[in-house]
Amino acid sequence: MKKIKGTIGILGCGNMGGAVAAGLTKRGVASRRSILFFDKDRKKTSRIKKELGIRSTSSIAELLRKCGIVLLAVKPQHLGDVTAELAEGLKRKHLLISLLAGVSIGNLRRRLGKACRVVRVMPNLGLLAGKGITAVTGGNSKDRKLADLVFSSCGRTVSLAEKHFNLVTVLSGSGPAYFFYLMELLDKFGVKKGLSLNIARLLSSETALGAAELVLRSGEDPEALRRRVTSKGGTTEAAFSVLGAKSFRVLFNRALERALKRAKDLGGK
Ligand SMILES: NC(=O)c1ccc[n+]([C@@H]2O[C@H](COP(=O)([O-])OP(=O)(O)OC[C@H]3O[C@@H](n4cnc5c(N)ncnc54)[C@H](OP(=O)(O)O)[C@@H]3O)[C@@H](O)[C@H]2O)c1
Repeated sequence: MKKIKGTIGILGCGNMGGAVAAGLTKRGVASRRSILFFDKDRKKTSRIKKELGIRSTSSIAELLRKCGIVLLAVKPQHLGDVTAELAEGLKRKHLLISLLAGVSIGNLRRRLGKACRVVRVMPNLGLLAGKGITAVTGGNSKDRKLADLVFSSCGRTVSLAEKHFNLVTVLSGSGPAYFFYLMELLDKFGVKKGLSLNIARLLSSETALGAAELVLRSGEDPEALRRRVTSKGGTTEAAFSVLGAKSFRVLFNRALERALKRAKDLGGK
């Protein structure tokens, strides 16, 4: 993997910021010395320094002074708390990579001024396992390549127009929860019918992994693969005689439409 030149600053080192820092060092995309972070949580700061061996700064201003690439990884509701310092410290040399769900590049520019370049990304929870999928938009192609490099260290990336970001939020941002729910239902059924939770979970999680891997490797349609395991008169067919009923599809589509509306309401546009 290519290496990033210069110093990367992470503002807000929680789930996402921490996962990126871990991915960068693990994959050798950045050395420990070239990553700095600032988090307002002191306990978290000392834990991360110990666990990841990276250094922290004592303020946002110091982070901006020392880093050319800055990952903005606080929660959207905390953007207001960091706006003034960011607007003050961001210069032309900076590339700001924003992870903030529902906050458009236009909105960020209005708040922060027009000095720096901005790339917006939408990662997902898979980042924590090095298996995230991150959509990337904005900036020039060099900036997007840099963001690609950062997020490829903990999964895969895809370049997309910003107009699709609400949809990305619904599909892959919230997506892990849909699959967790299905696994939760499989686990509960397994336990109800006599398995230990450990075994039920092993069966459900390895099955989810295998199914996803098969779709990615074979390039086949999930529908075609589903039809292939559904033999006539078998158990899968019996399950789909219930699941295939229109109501489940309708319900799930309604859920996705509701989530999309919520993403639009939260992010504007
Ligand atoms: N989690 C996901 O699946 C996901 C998916 C896509 C996008 N995102 C986006 O990624 C971003 C980070 O999410 P997350 O789940 O990593 O959140 P998180 O775990 O809460 O991490 C944010 C960190 O920033 C810290 N922080 C808050 N205000 C700060 C300030 N003024 N200065 C410095 N640090 C501050 C928080 O400290 P405290 O804990 O003390 O508040 C926390 O450690 C969000 O914008 C979110 O929209 C998340």
